[in-house]
Amino acid sequence: MEVIILPTAEEASEVAARLVAHQLRAKSDSVLGLATGSTPCKLYQLLARMHSVDHLDFSRVTTFNLDEYIGLDPAHPASYHRFMEENFFTHVNISRDRIHIPDGLARDVPAYCDAYEKGIYDAGGIDLQILGLGSDGHLGFNEPGSSLSSHTRIKTLTERTRNDNARYFTDDREVPHHVITMGLGTIMNSRMCLLLAFGKRKAQAVAESVEGPVTASVPGSLLQFHSRAKVLLDAEAASLLTRADYYQWVYKNKPPWQSDL
Ligand code: F6R
Repeated sequence: MEVIILPTAEEASEVAARLVAHQLRAKSDSVLGLATGSTPCKLYQLLARMHSVDHLDFSRVTTFNLDEYIGLDPAHPASYHRFMEENFFTHVNISRDRIHIPDGLARDVPAYCDAYEKGIYDAGGIDLQILGLGSDGHLGFNEPGSSLSSHTRIKTLTERTRNDNARYFTDDREVPHHVITMGLGTIMNSRMCLLLAFGKRKAQAVAESVEGPVTASVPGSLLQFHSRAKVLLDAEAASLLTRADYYQWVYKNKPPWQSDL
């Protein structure tokens, strides 16, 4: 696990954008795993700019989103379909038939989840998975206690996550209880994981994920077992890390050939 601490979320997002761009330039038909929420918004803006200014090409890219609320129409303002459209897909030249977001209206949820998982497998697996971190340590919508080897399935949100996400809904009671989410096993199968976390509100979950024991009680901690996981933090999110000075020294003193890749 490589921990990269930058002063601001903007600077950390710039590193993330460079890493994604590097991936796409090395493999134009990359499979990306995508997250929603406030954390990756800047990253998506930067990638959209790289597309329009530097011609970063998404035409052969395939995407799989981590999660979606059950029961929300894709057109609902708080749906992750809508989020991805507005924040990313309409701004890059991605091919519509290569976009995959769990269908919150699927009738047979278990069969749908199996098919979603198979879709990832058939696409060759996820090359690079972008992740945010819940304030309770969740990855995707794998809440504390999730099986460490789980695959795409239905999950029930904790009240904490429902409260955290209520800002996207007009009425708190509207926040769905159920979601479809890739599992922790699905995420761990990705060839590379980029976890982004910003702000004081994430500091505790970051410290437990990076320096605490690996436990299902903190799903983010499972990334300690991933062989290519990078954790990109702003100073506030890193504020409870005991080895912050060491991570910063390592990042600033990388051999030139390693750069920030
Ligand atoms: C969203 C997702 C969630 C979020 C997490 C953080 O697709 O998978 O794990 O990344 O809840 O949300 P924000 O970024 O809004 O703090």
